[in-house]
Amino acid sequence: PAEKAELITRIKRLLIEREAVLVAHYYVDADLQDLAEATGGCVSDSLEMARFGRDHPAKTLVVAGVRFMGETAKILSPEKTVLMPDLDATCSLDLGCPVDEFTAFCDAHPDRTVVVYANTSAAVKARADWMVTSSIGLDIVAHLHAQGKKILWAPDKHLGSYIQKETGADMLLWQGSCLVHDEFKGIELDLLKEEYPQAKVLVHPESPANVVALADMVGSTSQMIAAAQSMDTDTFIVATDNGILHKMRAAAPGKRFIEAPTAGNSATCKSCAHCPWMAMNGLLNLAQTLESMHNEIHVDPAVGQLAVRSINRMLDFAA
Ligand code: 13P
Ligand code: SF4
Repeated sequence: PAEKAELITRIKRLLIEREAVLVAHYYVDADLQDLAEATGGCVSDSLEMARFGRDHPAKTLVVAGVRFMGETAKILSPEKTVLMPDLDATCSLDLGCPVDEFTAFCDAHPDRTVVVYANTSAAVKARADWMVTSSIGLDIVAHLHAQGKKILWAPDKHLGSYIQKETGADMLLWQGSCLVHDEFKGIELDLLKEEYPQAKVLVHPESPANVVALADMVGSTSQMIAAAQSMDTDTFIVATDNGILHKMRAAAPGKRFIEAPTAGNSATCKSCAHCPWMAMNGLLNLAQTLESMHNEIHVDPAVGQLAVRSINRMLDFAA
């Protein structure tokens, strides 16, 4: 604990010295989330992280999350220095959508509007017409559908099929998935609901369809926390990365949060309810990053100039 307190003091000092601000996601270590809030940074979902980083006057953004979040921050603010505690923190959705294959897929379907999830590389965003996050993807696809557009969606098949079902849009889906949310199990969730009949079920839409089908509320991480605060019950079952529970408990004190069931033990489940890449962010590598100013995110400016259009379409729509 003394070591931890020292690290926190060191990070606070370095953030001031480097004129830096910390932008964190709800899935990272609770200490990092608290630190972001205590130092005037933010802890939020992907949409808000993008907006916050873009609008903040700091010269340096330190993104505690995964690589696509750092890249989005850099694309929106090419003049800022964007650092990450560990540059190898990636995402299975990003990994599962290599730009060459994705480009070939788009080229084979030129009649479709290309909508990609935020959890993709800068190069994939550069090939897209729109980028969306989980908090606004449904509204944007509904809007495009109302204009008679046919959609090519990538990479998350679960989020894509949820949006397709809700909007009735014509969507051709890339077959990617999140290795964390893919582990949530519908049958076991149904049994857990029987055990806690008063509980409301909060589900992130990267989860499989049979889990989403049991939800009382489906939405982004920020929307899930807001629902935990506002819904009139004292028990929730939560189907998303368990890093969110720290903020949920703080936002809705006195309420009870139960993790939704996953596939099983650590031998069969590589990442039961906690993202291995989000877990690569810690106090120590954050302090070292600020000290050395290494671990900088770079995006090819030509790629960034194309990618920013798809990101800005979403931000303008959200405004
Ligand atoms: P949110 O935008 O809902 O926070 O989701 C980001 C993410 O990576 C979820 O796995
Ligand atoms: Fe990617 Fe899933 Fe990790 Fe989110 S939780 S960063 S979608 S692997």
